Amino acid sequence: MLILNSPEVTQETCLRWKREATLAFVPTMGCLHEGHLALVKKAKELASRVVVSIFVNPLQFAPHEDFEKYPRVFNEDCEKLKSLDVDLLFHPTVNDLYPEGFSSKVSVGDIGNRLCGAFRPNHFDGVATVVLKLFEITSCDFAIFGEKDYQQLTIIQQLTRDFNLPVCVVPHPTIRAEDDVALSSRNLYLSNLERVAARQIPRVLNLSRQEAFNDPAQTVEQLLVKLRPLLTEQGLKVQYLEITQTRQLTPADPLASLKTLILPHLFLAVYAGSTRLIDNISLSIER
Ligand code: PAJ
Repeated sequence: MLILNSPEVTQETCLRWKREATLAFVPTMGCLHEGHLALVKKAKELASRVVVSIFVNPLQFAPHEDFEKYPRVFNEDCEKLKSLDVDLLFHPTVNDLYPEGFSSKVSVGDIGNRLCGAFRPNHFDGVATVVLKLFEITSCDFAIFGEKDYQQLTIIQQLTRDFNLPVCVVPHPTIRAEDDVALSSRNLYLSNLERVAARQIPRVLNLSRQEAFNDPAQTVEQLLVKLRPLLTEQGLKVQYLEITQTRQLTPADPLASLKTLILPHLFLAVYAGSTRLIDNISLSIER
């Protein structure tokens, strides 16, 4: 496995490979778990060369967020990627990607101001900016993104359409622990008690899906009113619990009946102690 930190050398290498190979790319911030590794395995299936990046992107963290504290375990990550036969690990420093004088930013528009974006201003602009750079550096044919971060996935799909990027964005289902809690690098921050409380998240998601099937005539508000206390009674603090519709993740009218929604999707962000956890589930009949 090649390990490179220079954007220029990585770009040259990928362009050379692309002459006779297809290339799949998995962008990450490291502290890799089985969720990330599932994306890498998918990448291996899709293309003959696989590139992974590890970069904790300061542009997507607000000043009060966990940029400094974000877990960094580079050597362990390397071993995991080597064992999966990854061709190239791109591991730039902040200065490599944002040298002095860097000034252009992507603005993702309204979709970046909803759900997580309402609480993390500029977060998705920061994500889109780094992802656009990474796509340009790797010239990837495929890029794999987890449905765990469904809003992020949707925004990257929008970015590739808006800028005609020649990349096929491939969604990957959320990988969960045995107790159904979605794997996340931030789960490391949870105490034992908080971890027990976090189990309520997948229960609520699964219940919402059952409810949507069993009683599709109920309104968005009626369903949310049932779900919210199930989270709070476990000590989780709800930041948002929302249902959207359409591929643009448009907020659903609270008075609309579930059965009238197009591609309904439930999103939540909760705090377990000081750790913020997000999850989501489709409420569509097709999935
Ligand atoms: P990070 O949180 O490291 O996630 C990297 C990729 O792994 C994302 O596509 C994310 O959705 C996926 N992922 C995380 N947990 C997962 C799980 N339990 N199941 C399936 N996929 C999972 O997301 C980012 O980094 C950054 O915002 C990034 C895109 C790298 C830009 O900086």
